[in-house]
Amino acid sequence: MKTIIEPFRIKVVEPIKITNRAYRERVLREAHYNLFQVRAADVTIDLLTDSGTAAMSAEQWSAIMAGDESYAGSRSFYRFEKVAKDLTGFRHIIPVHQGRAAEKILFGIVGGHGKIVPANSHFDTTRANVEYTGAEALDLLIPEGRDPQSEHPFKGNIDLAALESCLSTHGAARVPLVLLTVTNNAGGGQPVSLENIRKTRDITRRHGVPLFLDACRFAENAYFIKLREPGQAGRPVRDIAREMYSLADGCTMSAKKDGLVNIGGFLALNDDDLASRARNLLILTEGFPTYGGLAGRDLEAMAQGLIEVLEEDYLNYRFVSTAYLGAHLTEAGVPILRPVGGHAVYLDALRFVPHIDPAHLPAQALACELYLEAGIRGVEIGSLMFGKSVAMSGGAPATPRMELVRLAIPRRVYTQSHIDYVVEAIVEVHRMRDTIRGLEIEWQAPILRHFTARLRPLSTELR
Ligand code: F0G
Repeated sequence: MKTIIEPFRIKVVEPIKITNRAYRERVLREAHYNLFQVRAADVTIDLLTDSGTAAMSAEQWSAIMAGDESYAGSRSFYRFEKVAKDLTGFRHIIPVHQGRAAEKILFGIVGGHGKIVPANSHFDTTRANVEYTGAEALDLLIPEGRDPQSEHPFKGNIDLAALESCLSTHGAARVPLVLLTVTNNAGGGQPVSLENIRKTRDITRRHGVPLFLDACRFAENAYFIKLREPGQAGRPVRDIAREMYSLADGCTMSAKKDGLVNIGGFLALNDDDLASRARNLLILTEGFPTYGGLAGRDLEAMAQGLIEVLEEDYLNYRFVSTAYLGAHLTEAGVPILRPVGGHAVYLDALRFVPHIDPAHLPAQALACELYLEAGIRGVEIGSLMFGKSVAMSGGAPATPRMELVRLAIPRRVYTQSHIDYVVEAIVEVHRMRDTIRGLEIEWQAPILRHFTARLRPLSTELR
């Protein structure tokens, strides 16, 4: 059969509210043009994130009933630990409530003033947790990774020459670890090749610096390797994933993505001393090491999710449905970041609304327009999220090189007709693109400003 179907049927449903434009205009005004401030009940198709939004399987829900809620030594912990160890091969598995808790603990130990943490790209919470310790978060993505039109198959790769030079200059004294984000969320959900991980491993080992994975979307990265990397097509995805982990010394993991759960994560590593310091911090902030900020039932769901996410029918369906959205948009002439990533399609706002000055948040303006048009919520990944700026209205925020609207697809949640609705809405917004106006910042917080910033439409467009 040529038709790829959703490899599941639906047992429990959740109603979706259909709203009209006048209603959505009011909602957006009240949310100060910040989609994080919109209530989910006022969203028709929620593509804000693929994090914590997965539909769990019947197996996961039944595992939840088996959760052991003992404070110490819970049976659910040992089940989870076994699954995570079999997958990653790391000696120490430390559960946390979500990815950023693992980041906070890890960088709390290895970060600090004068330290540098190179990565292909840091995601926003990772960057914030590195910088919060006083360390520098350095992005060393290959140049193709910054070009929205490059068809390079592994645009998430780290620039090996730049890494070599960084480690030669600063050495293990200043670089506590190197991080590879698989897949690279900030750069469009683009994968890192096995070859790039292997070579990163060689460089880091030569300099005596540990290599960590930010493994949130490890299964999608492994599937990209299977599909795109020469010589990998015949391997089970699970083997590829295990090889990825075997090349690293540890990982941070938000199981809210490829753990197929609504909450959960872990820090895993081989170094005994680091693990013991991490567990001490864990007790301080998350909880005892056999539950780490989670209920026993969450550990059960996470264990089951880590198994299901590597099922190849599931991964194939996921890639096909994300590619379907990308292909229909491309066919209609809508500029998107190429090639389509695993978990999301990214609209390229600089080409979608070229009349909006980058200082006026074109990607955020486009995200707002999508909400107004059809109640679709995406997320800006551009200068609001990443532009380091103290500029209030009238100032000129420093802009990053890409202005994207990410349409992240929750796992196992929406069907093809939902995606058709999204395509129709975006094509219509594209047709009317000249009418979209830029935004300016009314108020912003000093860090992670995109979550709470208050914005307003520009009264007159300057360009
Ligand atoms: N690393 C990456 C690559 C991520 O995408 C995220 C979260 C995290 C770390 C932090 O994990 O949310 O469990 O604390 N990304 C979400 C997103 C928020 O929408 O992409 P967390």
